[in-house]
Amino acid sequence: MVRVTRRFEFCAAHRLYCREFSDDENRRTFGACSNPNWHGHNYVLDVIVGGEPDPGTGLVIEGAVFERAVKERAIDPFDHRNLNLECDDFKGLNPSVENIARVIWRRLDGALGTAKLHCVRVWETSKTSAEYTGP
Ligand code: NI
Repeated sequence: MVRVTRRFEFCAAHRLYCREFSDDENRRTFGACSNPNWHGHNYVLDVIVGGEPDPGTGLVIEGAVFERAVKERAIDPFDHRNLNLECDDFKGLNPSVENIARVIWRRLDGALGTAKLHCVRVWETSKTSAEYTGP
């Protein structure tokens, strides 16, 4: 079993808040991410797959297959969008980096040919990331 990582980037706006919280509670809980007028992040997405390298090519997954699957299923639906307002995946779901990792997992699981999805890691800032390795 060999694991392969490919890195992607997308930009998106969001707001983290709980409807039942006051503005003060939201600010205490989510900090700057609770700004009512939205804000953006330059997200970095690491997708890690595993498998046996093909005996002929030596590849676990062809780069173009990897690239196209992630672009179509996990980048295009979110890039340059407001996650709260424009993306059905986050209707009623706070677009925290934790939840973004889980949503992207669900979108990619089973869609990477013979390679098996091992981990989705999403970086919200250079200091903060979340990873999901499946249910
Ligand atoms: Ni934020």
